[in-house]
Amino acid sequence: MLESGADVITLGNHTWARDEIRGYLAESDRVIRPANVATGLPGRGLAVALAADGTPVAVLNLLGWLFLEVPINPFEVVDRLVEEARRHASVVVVDFHAEATSEKVAMARWLDGRVTAVVGTHTHVQTNDARVQPGGTAAITDAGMTGPHDSVIGVEAALAIRRARTLTPVRLKPAKGDVRIEGVVVECDTVSGRATSIQLLRVPVA
Ligand SMILES: [Fe+2]
Repeated sequence: MLESGADVITLGNHTWARDEIRGYLAESDRVIRPANVATGLPGRGLAVALAADGTPVAVLNLLGWLFLEVPINPFEVVDRLVEEARRHASVVVVDFHAEATSEKVAMARWLDGRVTAVVGTHTHVQTNDARVQPGGTAAITDAGMTGPHDSVIGVEAALAIRRARTLTPVRLKPAKGDVRIEGVVVECDTVSGRATSIQLLRVPVA
């Protein structure tokens, strides 16, 4: 994905599902994991990369506390992380990987005026609330899913339905159909870091 042109990749609650990632995360400054995981785990939650025009962009990754098991409340650490990010860049993007719409909206409001964008992830369904808040922070509750939409959030529907109906373990498999790239395009002032617009992106690819 980095070779395809991604500048920074953020992770989420599945970060530690494969142990092999640990060594990679310890070395990488472009692939980051949520900042509020247990102390001592490898990797970092903040990356700074240069945009195509040379503008430094800081990217922060945090996990929500509601319905996800986190050892550290993201609201406990976000202020310090934003201050650190702003020492490196005026443009700061926060990937808030969280389950609850309420928590994601609360984080977007809390950070309004201090970061360029708060982009929600994890729930995989693109929400219809992209907006620039009064303080100049763009926000959306969920950027959506890049993957097969003929599915239950990426999983073969029949398997997800079997699991839901039986409440027994079912080995889930990725679905195949209706692949889309989803996300958002945020425009901003590179000096102040304030967002000027946010637009939904949805591109069918297969
Ligand atoms: Fe997730």
